[in-house]
Amino acid sequence: MPATFTKSALLLSLMLGLGQAHAAAQPSPVALAASEGIPHPAVIAHRGASFDAPESTAASYKLARDLGADYLEMDLQRSKDGVLFALHDNNLQRTTDVATKFPDRKDSPANAFTMAELKTLDAGSWYNKAYPDRARPSYVGLQILTLDEIIDIAQANPKHKPGLYIETKEPQLFPGIEHDLKEKLQARGLLIPAGAKPAKNVASVGESNGKVILQTFEKNSLELLQKEMPQVPKILLLWVGEGSIEPKSKVTFAESGEKDKNVFYGKQEPKSEAEFKQWIDYAKAQGAIGTGPSAKLTHGGDQSYSDLVQPWMNKYTHDKGLLVHVYTVDEPVDYEKVMAAGVDGIFTNRASELLKFYKRPAAASVDQVLKNNGF
Ligand code: G3P
Ligand code: CA
Repeated sequence: MPATFTKSALLLSLMLGLGQAHAAAQPSPVALAASEGIPHPAVIAHRGASFDAPESTAASYKLARDLGADYLEMDLQRSKDGVLFALHDNNLQRTTDVATKFPDRKDSPANAFTMAELKTLDAGSWYNKAYPDRARPSYVGLQILTLDEIIDIAQANPKHKPGLYIETKEPQLFPGIEHDLKEKLQARGLLIPAGAKPAKNVASVGESNGKVILQTFEKNSLELLQKEMPQVPKILLLWVGEGSIEPKSKVTFAESGEKDKNVFYGKQEPKSEAEFKQWIDYAKAQGAIGTGPSAKLTHGGDQSYSDLVQPWMNKYTHDKGLLVHVYTVDEPVDYEKVMAAGVDGIFTNRASELLKFYKRPAAASVDQVLKNNGF
């Protein structure tokens, strides 16, 4: 073999080899989170500290903030008159007294109400009835909150400003909500400049580049969020079922004979490895910085779904340079399990417990923080 060929071939193979190594190498999840200004592992207070106070109210968000959660999570909707506010369900029945105040419209979606009408609802009393052991008289009369009010809460503690982790909920019901959200974040000074370098030595998440994370289950909404706010970190939420990862079994809940919907969900698994992977590949291609998969919980319950944080799934996601923030986990046995499987952060209703688990316990008890805030 002529010497010249050998040298060229060696050079070529080195270039190819280096090229391959470069393509495969991804920053570690810790480095990736740091580059986005996102704590690792992250404590995401799901609808606020919603185990201890009515979800998505001032009580639950102030509690999560003052316990030291990294993020206040919320499901974003838009009122009839165009105001962005936080509510999880499609209608108001479970978490408000709409049936008493607006009996004829009790089944209507929340976007059929003006913000003034929504503000007349009691979003706290349901909690006292559902959880008498955690009830407080001060929860009676709590209001649904606008996004503006949640931003005010997030910024009000000078010692700790959590970030906002905002889900576009059922975005097909709210055409243009991605644009509205951009305008609101811009107006409130919460949009980081495009190409901004990670802010150094910030005191809290709320001052970092990761001060806002956007999340959605919907491909279309992810694409719109990316178009509107390319510089803001985004998470594609995942579950197994309609509109998301295709299940292996075509048997429906009604056909399954299961009595408990979440037992049924817990048994669901992706149709194939390839089916799971294509969702991760899609998230990456659309500019997401990570995924938000469901978890199967040890003791079941209405937040237990398909196990989408198996170690091979997390490894595949990490190998693509994406983070994994799992929802919604409340017990140490499950914190252990999902952390061992490799996740990078947890949505939890029990911020106080997760902070303890991560050895970042709050300085004051849940009871004390609630009292400090007048609850
Ligand atoms: O946003 C993550 C998690 O909250 C998804 O579930 O139904 O509580 O919004 P859901
Ligand atoms: Ca949510």
